Amino acid sequence: MFQRELDNYRDNGFVVLEGFVDEGDCAQLRVRAAEMVQKFDPAEVVSIFSTNEQNRTTDDYFLTSGDKIRFFFEENAFNVDGTLKYEKEKSINKIGHALHDLDPIFERFSRSEKIKDVATAIGITNPLLLQSMYIFKQPNIGGEVTCHQDSTFLYTDPIDIVGLWFALEDATIENGCLWAIPGGHRSGLKSRWVRSNEGMKFDIFDNKPWPEDQLVPLEVSKGSLILLHGLLPHRSFENRSPRSRHAYTLHLISAGANYPADNWLQRSKTMPLRGF
Ligand code: FE2
Repeated sequence: MFQRELDNYRDNGFVVLEGFVDEGDCAQLRVRAAEMVQKFDPAEVVSIFSTNEQNRTTDDYFLTSGDKIRFFFEENAFNVDGTLKYEKEKSINKIGHALHDLDPIFERFSRSEKIKDVATAIGITNPLLLQSMYIFKQPNIGGEVTCHQDSTFLYTDPIDIVGLWFALEDATIENGCLWAIPGGHRSGLKSRWVRSNEGMKFDIFDNKPWPEDQLVPLEVSKGSLILLHGLLPHRSFENRSPRSRHAYTLHLISAGANYPADNWLQRSKTMPLRGF
C-alpha cells in the first residue's frame, strides 16, 4: 500500500484499492460459492439474514455458525406460502462465517501474503482471521443492510479490527453497493450486540441517529478491495436491479486485542482462530 492510501484510510475510515483481486481469483471464488449452494439442501434448515429486527430474526443456526459454513436466505426470498420465489441459487443472501478455515479455495485466497501485507500496513499486528462471508446481494430481492459499525458485532478491546470487502462483480448504486460516512470512524462506538441470558441484545452507548445524509456511495469495479475501519458507519441498500452484486468479506483482528465471550461469534475450543 502507498502512503496516500494509508492516509485515506486513516482520514476517512475506508480506502478503495482497485484491481486487488485478479480475474482468475474472482472467477474461482464465484464458481466455488456456486458449488457450495448447489450442494446445500434447504430442506435441512431455513434461516433468514435480516438487519431489521436483528434480535428477533437471529436464530441458533446463525449464532453457532462462527466456526462453520452455513447458508442464510434473503428475507424477501419467499412467497407467502413459504415457497421460494426464485431458484435456490438466486435466493441465498450469504454464506458464513468460517469459509477461510473450512474450504481450501477460500482458505488459499484468504491467507495470501498480499492480504497479510495489507493488514500489517494498516497496523493490525499479528492478524487473526475472524470471519468470512460470501455475500450474493441477489438480483431483485437483495436485502438492505442498515447503517452500522462492524465493531458493534465484532467487538475487540482495544478496537483493532479491519473489514476487507472484495468486489467479485462491479458494485454500483443500482445493484446495491456499499455506502459510508467519510470520517465517521472518529465518532466512537454507538452500540454492541451482545449475548445475554435473554438472548441477543444491543447495549446502546449513543442513541443519536446516523447522519445518513453524509453517506457517499462506494461504487467499485470488479476486483476492487475496500478496507473498512471497525468504527466506520456504512450500509448498503436493496438490490432491485436484475444484476447480482457478489462480494467476499473478511474480518481480521489483532491477536493482542481481547475478544470478549459475549460477542455473537464464538469458536469451539478445537477450532481456535488462526493467522496467516
Ligand atoms: Fe458491515
